[in-house]
Amino acid sequence: MKSQKRNFIIAGNWKMNPDSLADAKTIFAAISRKARSARHTVVVLAPPAPFLSAGASRSGRAGTAACLAIQDVSEHVSGAFTGSVSARQARSAGAEYAIIGHSERRKAGDTDMIVSQKVRQALDAGLRTIVCVGETERDPHAHYLRTVREQILAVVGALDKKQVRSLTHSLIVAYEPVWAVGKSYDTAPKPSDIHEMSIYIKKVIAESLGKKIGIKIPVLYGGSVDLENSKAILKDGGIDGLLVGRQSLDSKDFGGMIDYADSL
Ligand code: PGA
Repeated sequence: MKSQKRNFIIAGNWKMNPDSLADAKTIFAAISRKARSARHTVVVLAPPAPFLSAGASRSGRAGTAACLAIQDVSEHVSGAFTGSVSARQARSAGAEYAIIGHSERRKAGDTDMIVSQKVRQALDAGLRTIVCVGETERDPHAHYLRTVREQILAVVGALDKKQVRSLTHSLIVAYEPVWAVGKSYDTAPKPSDIHEMSIYIKKVIAESLGKKIGIKIPVLYGGSVDLENSKAILKDGGIDGLLVGRQSLDSKDFGGMIDYADSL
């Protein structure tokens, strides 16, 4: 029965790949076919910004095709910021989602403050915002919980009332422990650890914005997910979906994750 099915978000972050528009179009076509056959799963693809328009003609919702995401936006609205892309421009080019605060952007200089400014820009432009949080290491004293908590509070604490009102529809948190991003596939945490973090993240949001919102904000997991480990993570990780890096460029394996999520 439909109501018993879980509604997952399966998002692919292409990072700075592939090299050509032709290759991007091939992946868009294969994943869109897969996304169209999914009944309960929303598929999101985050190509490099120059390829957004090529994917836009295929964008849609669950049961149609893949939605598009921008991988980052400027913290500014518009103006003299050479090389930057604004949230409004991304929206206008066909993006419905934005990934903000990815660990590779944080490493390049995005502080919690900048991440929170970017989130506000994305929300104001009408983009559903996937904000990435995650510790660089798991210390034995569990200080990593504080890191994740601070990253979340920096974002939710800076929102205005209007943004908070629409938050359950527009904010998604991706838990991406930095030590598991871009590593070998057996470094991904166990589903039970991911489950714990997902509960913790919802609790932190609930403490700040209330239980109703905390429960409803989807939490994704990302970091060295492949077809093999994705199954246990989706089934037992207590999460609402995945943010996949490398494997999202492999339409066969990424398609397999969509199929599996849709079967749960
Ligand atoms: P990975 O990347 O799946 O290649 O580890 C995940 C991410 O950076 O979102």
